[in-house]
Amino acid sequence: MKKVSVCFVCLGNICRSPTAEAVMRRLVDEAGLTGSVDVDSAGTGDWHIGEAPDERAQRAGSLRGYDLARLRARQIEAADFGRFDLIVAMDDANVTALHSVCPASGRDKIRLLMEFAPQGESRVVADPYFGGDAGFDTVLDQCEAACAGLLAALRPQLVG
Ligand code: 4NP
Repeated sequence: MKKVSVCFVCLGNICRSPTAEAVMRRLVDEAGLTGSVDVDSAGTGDWHIGEAPDERAQRAGSLRGYDLARLRARQIEAADFGRFDLIVAMDDANVTALHSVCPASGRDKIRLLMEFAPQGESRVVADPYFGGDAGFDTVLDQCEAACAGLLAALRPQLVG
């Protein structure tokens, strides 16, 4: 079976993208595709490098059985565009920031996560950092919907 690799990207790599990473990893494991789909995450900013995910993200995730505690924030770098097949951003600001680190040849690897969600969902995963706990549940809902679509979109590449 072929392999595919995905890196989720948000601003700080402590709220949205580690949540997406945990959600995607579980979907991949449940589908029996561990080892065929590599999953990682990173931030466009450097403020939280080395930190565990935000406690609110950890708490909201743990209520749905996701363990985010061991993840550590890192910053996206140009080399990631060589390492990963897809760079999946949460919002338009992430895409703009990614364009400034991305080699010209890597631009078409950048996608918005919510492109893979069912129609009718919002276009971006909004930043929950300055809001209340409910925002972290919304992030989980969006990640669960969109990552299921992303995995379905990747399946043909795994067997093709
Ligand atoms: P994230 O959320 O991009 O989903 O990890 C944020 C985390 C930190 C900050 C902003 C957003 N911050 O301004 O430090």
